[in-house]
Amino acid sequence: MRPTRMRTHGCGELRVQHAGQSVRLCGWVHRRRDLGGLVFLDLRDRSGIVQVVASPEAPSAHAAAQGVRAEYVVRVHGTVALRPAHTVNPKLPTGEVEVRADRLEVLNPARTLPFEIASGEVVEEGVRLRYRYLDLRRPSMQHNLLLRHRLAQAARAFLSAEGFVEIETPHLIRATPEGARDFLVPSRLHPGKFYVLPQSPQLLKQILMVAGFDRYFQLARCFRDEDLRADRQPEFTQIDLEMSFVEQDDVLELSERLVAHMVREVLGQEVSLPFPRLTYREALTRYGTDKPDLRYGLEITDLTEILGHSGVRLFREVAESGGAVRALRVPDQAAMGRKFLDELVELVTTEGARGLVHLSLTHNGARGPIAKHLAPGELDALCAATGARTGDLVLLVADAPERAASALGKVRQELARRLDLIPAGAYRFCWVVEFPLLEYDPEEGRYVAKHHPFTAPVDEDLPHLESDPLRVRAKAHDLVLNGVEIAGGSIRIHQRELQERIFRLLDLTPERAHERFGFLLEAFQYGAPPHGGIAFGFDRFVMLLAGEKTIRDVIAFPKTASATDLMMGAPSEVDPEQLREVHIAIVREP
Ligand code: AMO
Repeated sequence: MRPTRMRTHGCGELRVQHAGQSVRLCGWVHRRRDLGGLVFLDLRDRSGIVQVVASPEAPSAHAAAQGVRAEYVVRVHGTVALRPAHTVNPKLPTGEVEVRADRLEVLNPARTLPFEIASGEVVEEGVRLRYRYLDLRRPSMQHNLLLRHRLAQAARAFLSAEGFVEIETPHLIRATPEGARDFLVPSRLHPGKFYVLPQSPQLLKQILMVAGFDRYFQLARCFRDEDLRADRQPEFTQIDLEMSFVEQDDVLELSERLVAHMVREVLGQEVSLPFPRLTYREALTRYGTDKPDLRYGLEITDLTEILGHSGVRLFREVAESGGAVRALRVPDQAAMGRKFLDELVELVTTEGARGLVHLSLTHNGARGPIAKHLAPGELDALCAATGARTGDLVLLVADAPERAASALGKVRQELARRLDLIPAGAYRFCWVVEFPLLEYDPEEGRYVAKHHPFTAPVDEDLPHLESDPLRVRAKAHDLVLNGVEIAGGSIRIHQRELQERIFRLLDLTPERAHERFGFLLEAFQYGAPPHGGIAFGFDRFVMLLAGEKTIRDVIAFPKTASATDLMMGAPSEVDPEQLREVHIAIVREP
């Protein structure tokens, strides 16, 4: 900590070499112990904690120390001294010293707190968010926000050194194409008109490429009005970047080095490059999800070829109707209990699959409902394909290929959790590439872009664009860390003719496209370079590196799951006058 006119050191900085020095410290009373004669205070600031001793030999300091309570803000004048050997506290970095107080000033008293800072007790999240300023005093939250700061600095330093220019884009804009619901801001000067808060800087960063900036980045705030989860907030931060004259491999390679740099700077760990790449298809077949967690094995195997003609009627029927039989080998779990198995069955049925069949490979042969319907050759082939051995359990799902995949994907995650297969402190990254360009939205009765409508198709798939649109792959990429999607991006379309073909497929009339993205399409007519980019979900990345389970724990002032700010009380009603000014009348639904 830099000295100021009020203090000479940070509490957590004092060490043996400071012994004998006279110091002034400021901070919060973390704990107070009154031993009759001596009063001990643990004094805390952002740098850490140090023990302060007030003895009756300095009567005014002693009296003041007797009067303070937890979380009072005080200033201590005193001398650093070595602690007697038997009182050294090895748990504190300052544990070999203490500050003998000559004077103690109360700068500000504190009311009794709704929860204790020092005890590390588990506090209900609503209370933490209501009193966020107290929650943020807790060392774990201080740690998280400092980690976040250092990650941001590392990203800025790396990207600047790579020739990227940090450019801010506006928050009051016209709608962007990320596909969530927009937050609207009414215009006072233009009655009946609205700005939209950006879901991302997507279109503006593409415009910056047209403007010749070549490499752009921004720690950009994004706003999306969608249902919230542990890893989703209505406003969140992206490390957003865009590059000109690149192919997909350039974007991936740059991103890998950025990630490696950030992890190295902040955790002092090396991550091995390049990251493995999976196609979307592979990810779904082998892991049952497009966000595979590679910290553990439990790969899914397709057994349609092997079991599609077997004596098991269900498997035959499913295979004949174009479905798939997929299996998960669970090592050493042949004796898995009935209750656990039932819970897994329930899990797959809530995922929409018809059921889950188990096969236990015991010392007395295969056991389970399908065991006696399998020919010996089929059982051998099943074992060869899955790698299953005596002692293992094999779980099978027969269903439509996507449903079989996602059901076993869920089972895979649940097993890893319950069987404790996830190594602590491991970071496993992977790319998922070759996403489908489009998906069919049955509700809207049309194709929609899986990423966004400016994502370029894979060149060799272009001939199928109109004849078989769902088969066309996109030059899109997601980066997954430990089963969480931490970044997504793509190479963009920069030719007008191709863009118009895509709009036609998305059922976007030229008028509608012009209304929504006219400015971008116009810009593209003035010499748009080939370009592409990516955006990292910064909060998610910080969450994973901090070892937290929700992004709320790495955001200073997050919203609750119902999108409220409990400290400020937002959203709130506003003055009728304010509403009139922006030409809005509230109509309450009966
Ligand atoms: P995308 O929509 O995939 O891409 O977003 C990029 C990354 O942002 C994170 N993310 C979120 N984090 C917290 N709360 C949310 N509600 C939330 N939504 C998304 C995810 C995601 O991978 N413009 C494109 C990027 C591009 O094409 O360059 C975009 O925004 O980690």
